[in-house]
Amino acid sequence: MTHNETAIKTDRLIIALDFPTIDEARSCVQKTSQHCCFYKIGLELLFSGGQDFVKELLADGHRVFVDAKLLDIGATVEKATANIARLGADFLTLHVSDTKTMQAAIKGRGSSSLKLLGVTVLTNLETEDLNEQGISGKTPKELVLHRAKLAKEAGLDGVIASAQEAADIREVVGPDFLIVTPGIRPVGSDIGDQARVMTPKLAIEAGADFLVVGRPISRADNPAEAADQIAREIAAAIV
Ligand code: C5P
Repeated sequence: MTHNETAIKTDRLIIALDFPTIDEARSCVQKTSQHCCFYKIGLELLFSGGQDFVKELLADGHRVFVDAKLLDIGATVEKATANIARLGADFLTLHVSDTKTMQAAIKGRGSSSLKLLGVTVLTNLETEDLNEQGISGKTPKELVLHRAKLAKEAGLDGVIASAQEAADIREVVGPDFLIVTPGIRPVGSDIGDQARVMTPKLAIEAGADFLVVGRPISRADNPAEAADQIAREIAAAIV
């Protein structure tokens, strides 16, 4: 961004703070908060002081997505969800497995404003990985659509999926259901270990409500510049 340009901030961008320490995560927030107001804390940071950092981000006026990807028996999921709701987080993930576990999470969040998002199929997985898991005869997209429908019927607020599946998910779940897409890669950026990737522009056009971006920003030489470019691409794609 040059001095003459105004910073673009979008509420549709969620930056994944995948760092080993709070100091590194805090530094990334400081560099990017001109362009982003929503941050995702995943397993790496959650087990490295991340819960207090959730409170710090919320106190500073940011929105926070706790990417805990819960999956356990109902009673455990319910209590864990209640604790995360108490932190004041905005989004929480759990795996879409069976209806009773998803309903336990809904019970756990109680009357809080915590939104529950179902992880359909991780964006780094392909057909051969599903075969390995014993889920044969289904492509990732077919499984994503099946799980998105299950999540909606169970009463979750939305799903996490690749933007490559967003348009088809929207057809299955209708308009009032959040589609949050990781695996976002601007043109020319490194795919890393992701498999089912899409650019920010195409993800918005496919119907994604929120885009989760990690390494293209967090590992960029200039995270502020990278966040600015992605925020601009998102803003331009929203009609
Ligand atoms: O660095 P990158 O942009 O690939 O980060 C994507 C983030 O989204 C990571 O924090 C990862 O855990 C998360 N995620 C994902 N696929 C899912 C759910 C979450 O990549 N299905």
